[in-house]
Amino acid sequence: MNLSGRNFLKVLDFTTEELQYLIDLAVELKNLKHQGKDHRYLLGKNIACIFEKDSTRTRCSFEVASYDLGMHVTYLGPTGSQMGKKETIKDTARVLGRMFDGIEYRGFEQSKVEELAEYSGVPVWNGLTNEFHPTQMLADFMTMLEHFGHLKGLNLVYFGDARFNTGNSLMIMSAKMGVNFTCCAPKELWPSEELINTAKIIASENNCTITLTEDVNEGAAGKDVVYTDVWVSMGEPDEVWAERINLLTPYRVTTELMNMTSENSIFLHCLPSFHNTDTTIGKDIAEKFGVTEMEVTDEVFESAKSKVFEEAENRMHTIKAVMYATLK
Ligand code: CP
Ligand code: NVA
Repeated sequence: MNLSGRNFLKVLDFTTEELQYLIDLAVELKNLKHQGKDHRYLLGKNIACIFEKDSTRTRCSFEVASYDLGMHVTYLGPTGSQMGKKETIKDTARVLGRMFDGIEYRGFEQSKVEELAEYSGVPVWNGLTNEFHPTQMLADFMTMLEHFGHLKGLNLVYFGDARFNTGNSLMIMSAKMGVNFTCCAPKELWPSEELINTAKIIASENNCTITLTEDVNEGAAGKDVVYTDVWVSMGEPDEVWAERINLLTPYRVTTELMNMTSENSIFLHCLPSFHNTDTTIGKDIAEKFGVTEMEVTDEVFESAKSKVFEEAENRMHTIKAVMYATLK
């Protein structure tokens, strides 16, 4: 498998075999890391990490993975560079491409990361856009593989805002990997018709299904993997909170809901998560709307079924696999 020189912009750009290869490579790199074995395979290379939105996991994963591979990292945050304000993406791409071997980008429109890739001349990795979150997918499916020992034939349900980065990406990744995907959400929060149709074509090639439902009981029944994400994503206006709370409260992942899933089921969440009121936003929402837990209850989040911290760790191993595969 040769992915050298490739970008990693969205799951749609990759074959099932390529995605499986990246997950398997991440498993190998995780073993090396846990055994304390040197794997500075990209010694002396330099990467830039551009973040137009906040991040804990993605930023730390790119940085730690780079250091483990022997690379140097330059971080460009939401403020402090010329990008987007005094300089176009196209110009920034052509500058950074002359200095760095690879570029990570987290921001708003998918078209921006695509433009960066088009003009930089070096591999560009999507660290999250409004539309897609592809590195998250590798970590999620690696975590599922570790738990179940296989991916094909598993049943995954996503509860919540399914028309944004995580929901869109999970639907496509499931279709690619032969996982039966159910979107359980109010109709207005389903992925676009166009993306659903694309997912259905890919799913039929991989002998799996794409189901959309508003019914929570149907959504939960017999599922192996229950996935949710925040109800309001980064970059969305504060005004949408009231409407989202109203629409999505019936879709909160509770113990009652988990009891309807398969015996060996797991709970996943890309994080960060509002499962209590111990954050400034969590506290603020509780004061304004009287909601103390949002997309998932604290009980489920802290339960034995919850694999969210294994999943978070796997962000680092999978991002390392993407950088190694595309830069070697
Ligand atoms: N899951 C994820 O992308 O987390 P961060 O926003 O902390 O990077
Ligand atoms: N949908 C979330 C994912 C965070 C990792 C957001 O875009 O904020």
